[in-house]
Amino acid sequence: MVGRQLTADLHDFLRTRRSIRRFTPDPVPAAVIERILETATYAPSAHNKQPWRFAVVTDLSAKARLAEAICARFRADMTADAAPEEEIANRIARTIRRTTEAPLVIVLCREVTQVRPQPDIVRQQAESTMGMQSVAMAGLQLLLSAHAEGLGGTWICWPLFAPQETRAALDLPAEWEPQGMVFIGYSAEEPPIPGRKPLSEITLFR
Ligand SMILES: Cc1cc2nc3c(=O)[nH]c(=O)nc-3n(C[C@H](O)[C@H](O)[C@H](O)COP(=O)(O)O)c2cc1C
Repeated sequence: MVGRQLTADLHDFLRTRRSIRRFTPDPVPAAVIERILETATYAPSAHNKQPWRFAVVTDLSAKARLAEAICARFRADMTADAAPEEEIANRIARTIRRTTEAPLVIVLCREVTQVRPQPDIVRQQAESTMGMQSVAMAGLQLLLSAHAEGLGGTWICWPLFAPQETRAALDLPAEWEPQGMVFIGYSAEEPPIPGRKPLSEITLFR
């Protein structure tokens, strides 16, 4: 039974998690990294398959390798889109700066073999989707446990747009399908709360 004060505190805790994009240079202690990863594994997953896999990157040269690999994909895609060179250069500089400045980078992957077999393509796709949903649950749990440790973090979608490059840069197993990554560290900013749509706009009661 959760007391009323604890309930109020938990709502407050959940509502005060913010996406943090600027960090102090302080490293995240190894024991804290282990604790937040462990807590992330308590997320729910379809059939309790626990398809999440984590690639933990703290080494500067590995972060740079990852950023450069992702940028190669970004450059190829933006060039194909006929984006101006200045725009491409800015995006690449921002991607490399943000990745290398984040004290802790955790690439979130789905282990693609961790699915319940199904007899047809529709149900197989539903199983894959459930695997992705499960990884996302672990990702949120990771961000919340980081928040509990006084850390800030942001979910970053880039690996989803450069899965092969991400896998190659970090030498990940072929069955690890990159879904995203989180940047984590001690916050160097206090961003305002991005607005929320009112419940009346996003909810139907039937
Ligand atoms: C699936 C997903 C992808 C996201 N990708 C990025 C990203 O690539 N870069 C970034 O800075 N923030 C990214 N975010 C963070 C969102 O911008 C952020 O959650 C949103 O603006 C609400 O702010 P809040 O997290 O502080 O409540 C992503 C969030 C989610 C859930």
